[in-house]
Amino acid sequence: MKITKICCIGAGYVGGPTMAIIAQKCPHIQVTVVDLNENRIAAWNDEDVTKIPIYEPGLSDIVAESRGRNLFFSTDVETAIDEAELIFISVNTPTKTFGKGKGMAADLKYIELCARQIAKIAKDNKIVVEKSTLPVRTAEAIKSILDHTGNGVQFQILSNPEFLAEGTAVDDLLFPDRILIGGDASKEGVEAIQSLVDVYANWVPQDKILTTNVWSSELSKLTANAFLAQRISSINAMSELCEKTGADVNEVARAIGMDSRIGSKFLKSSVGFGGSCFQKDILNLVYIAKSYGLNEVADYWEQVIVMNDHQKRRFSNKIVQTLYNTVADKKIAFLGWAFKKDTNDTRESAAIYVADDLINEQANITVYDPKVAGDKVFSDLNYLKTRSADSNKERVSVVQDPYEACLNAHAIAVLTEWDEFITYDWNRIYHSMQKPAFVFDGRNVLNRAEMEKIGFVYQSVGS
Ligand code: UDX
Ligand code: ADP
Repeated sequence: MKITKICCIGAGYVGGPTMAIIAQKCPHIQVTVVDLNENRIAAWNDEDVTKIPIYEPGLSDIVAESRGRNLFFSTDVETAIDEAELIFISVNTPTKTFGKGKGMAADLKYIELCARQIAKIAKDNKIVVEKSTLPVRTAEAIKSILDHTGNGVQFQILSNPEFLAEGTAVDDLLFPDRILIGGDASKEGVEAIQSLVDVYANWVPQDKILTTNVWSSELSKLTANAFLAQRISSINAMSELCEKTGADVNEVARAIGMDSRIGSKFLKSSVGFGGSCFQKDILNLVYIAKSYGLNEVADYWEQVIVMNDHQKRRFSNKIVQTLYNTVADKKIAFLGWAFKKDTNDTRESAAIYVADDLINEQANITVYDPKVAGDKVFSDLNYLKTRSADSNKERVSVVQDPYEACLNAHAIAVLTEWDEFITYDWNRIYHSMQKPAFVFDGRNVLNRAEMEKIGFVYQSVGS
């Protein structure tokens, strides 16, 4: 099938940037991104293109180039589904918060809703592409809904997981390591796969486009994230041992990273990984393994999460212990709230959990993040339901200026590795703080020797 119109359901961190790149690279294809959230769509359509709802370096320029030409953002889900030959499902799949699989399994209600909507509206054959990360064998459920509630038209289901990382989404999409497309081995399945291959072939070299069966594709996404997260938990496990033994985890990471069998990437020790994928996908994997009775497999992967939770808690404990075992009514400045640099996404950010621990110890926290809006900080904390929203408001404030955040603080905690932190006037910050002036570098971004020379008591992760 020759693709002339694409619809993407879900204008989030995955759907938005991915469609912007497809539209840029395929000017002959009309790409419409739809979402139920009217505010989000309005923001994507904002005349001032810097106001789009997702911050990614380079993204606003790409949106500006295609928007109104062959890239459209709309709340009219039905029309977009009706017109498209190819439909990406890119909605959120949060971890279930109730019932069977609570806290582990993916909640597929949004996916199911999409499938039902597509089935209801489609009057001609469609290719439906799973873009969201989904547990293995979800395609089967989507197919069942489409086939049983549809109007007798043919659906082909493809799995095309997204491997972009936030903060580098544009580059990851323009120059992907690989594109993975899973589909049926039937004649219709192979044709559907080819249609999607042809879309990507507009900018991705053929040898980087892999095709597999649907289940391999679904499981590969979970596997990739589990392996990546495992590397971080592995180096973080070593960070604690380094602190006890006098080794430096940065040196250890460098030394092992030069072994070509290990490789140098993803070995940066930190306060713990965050983001919308790692924890969710591993829990998913654990749940799937358990549901097949594979308890050792489940336990093996679950340990990656156990280690990550420990690393976050260890960081907040270290702050309390170092500040003479009490942070009550002391001011702690948080530099960074996003789960990594160059994104305004805060899902599962370590900062949230560290803040929660410190509020339990009755600390006062002042947050500065260059891209995260103040109300997000509060909604993240309130979502934990540890205490009332009013109690969070009493303990936390959000400011727009890093120097204000640090003024009179007893300690600074670096929670995100934003580049700008390195360029601050640390002398000025030191003189504005309570003494001794403590810095807890949860991202190992500052220079120990320079910080100590100024007078800070500097502690990093793993050295
Ligand atoms: C991840 C995968 O990388 C991506 O392929 C997948 O599609 C989605 O999940 P993302 O969550 O956006 O992407 O960011 P990533 O760069 O993987 O970072 C995840 C977390 O790990 C962040 O909190 C980051 O700070 C942390 N991290 C990363 C480390 O602590 N150390 C590292 O060495 C690398
Ligand atoms: P991701 O990081 O996977 O892109 P997001 O939460 O950023 O996740 O984006 C998912 C988007 O999908 C949200 O904006 C949400 O409003 C949208 N969405 C969820 N269900 C539907 C639906 N049935 N129809 C349209 N949009 C939906």
